[in-house]
Amino acid sequence: MFKFNKEIESIFKAVAQNACDMGISAYFVGGMVRDVLMGIEIKDIDILIEGSAIDFVQKFADKFTNLDIVIKSVHEAFDTAKTVINGIEIDFASTREEDYPFSGCLPVVKNIGCPVEEDLKRRDFTVNAIAAKLCLQNDELNYEIIDPYNGNGDIKQKTLRILHNKSYIDDPTRILRGIDFMLRFGFDFSDGDKTLINEYLKSPDREGLSLDRVKLTLKKLFSGANAKDAYKYILENKICKIWCDKPLFKAEWADTLFDAAKIFDIPQDEIFLKAIFESSALQNESAKCPVGTSNFEIYNTYKNLKIIDLALQYAISNDKNAVFYYEKLKDIKPDITGADLLKQGYTEGKAIGDELSRLLKEKLNSIPRS
Ligand code: CTP
Repeated sequence: MFKFNKEIESIFKAVAQNACDMGISAYFVGGMVRDVLMGIEIKDIDILIEGSAIDFVQKFADKFTNLDIVIKSVHEAFDTAKTVINGIEIDFASTREEDYPFSGCLPVVKNIGCPVEEDLKRRDFTVNAIAAKLCLQNDELNYEIIDPYNGNGDIKQKTLRILHNKSYIDDPTRILRGIDFMLRFGFDFSDGDKTLINEYLKSPDREGLSLDRVKLTLKKLFSGANAKDAYKYILENKICKIWCDKPLFKAEWADTLFDAAKIFDIPQDEIFLKAIFESSALQNESAKCPVGTSNFEIYNTYKNLKIIDLALQYAISNDKNAVFYYEKLKDIKPDITGADLLKQGYTEGKAIGDELSRLLKEKLNSIPRS
């Protein structure tokens, strides 16, 4: 089931050996196990330590000097460590439990180093609540699957099912994560989950909601190949009720937002996020240039906008002049500078500004529209 090339396997064997030497257990967990069980390529390598992950990687690095182990960073509060081992990024986390004092807040972490079964309880969907213990026997790597919620059954049924009825209340970003898995893997929410999601969206509790977590989850959703569909789904199914009542962003922008990211060379996630959280100001300005607007006027309409705002303006108004400005006008400068004009005998002051503006206008208006 878990098949890795020789080099990666030798790292995992060393991990298993180190765990054995320390008298603790190490597991693959979360998306990695899900992806292996689904038979798709794994994205990240996450190792869960039933104990202290920081202590684990420090002992690991001291002992396995045959491996090139770089501890990139540690996070003391959560007892996690990011490493690069023989050039491969591997994240180590300690088992932990989590509490949600308010709906949607960042969880309070407790019981670091708890039994793996307790750690699995804090996870979002059954398909992500599976651990695979690394076992080394006679230099052979074997895996013991710990699947208390029948996540493997749900993987086969392509079903998204939370672990307990309060889960979406604790963390409504799980609804967004579910949409991600739905669009990426063709999963669907279980009937029970659909009911719980609808109930939550009818009266969302935003008081303690971590908007940062919402944005981070959306960022992930909009970074992938399904950004457009995710954006439409969020509007059509009123998922945005998680964080707002009346969305100011519109479903019909989905295509132009996607195009704008490419045309204006803006990361796709940034423009979708900007549209969702910051589009109201731009909509009111209504900067679209009417037909017949000169190049100079187009230039003046757009020159003070940051590129991302220009891209968003294009996505909202579909004004091709924004693209023309970006591609042909924005870097145009008069052929001579103020210093040149001074040398020609102009006196410092308004006259120089007027002349430079006239020269810029002349040059801009001479650029053909294509
Ligand atoms: N998790 C969770 N609730 C969240 C975020 C994460 O329960 N709001 C848990 C899940 O068990 C998840 C694991 O943390 O599997 C790792 O999260 P992440 O790396 O964001 O996603 P993956 O499930 O690994 O999926 P992928 O990286 O493929 O999107």
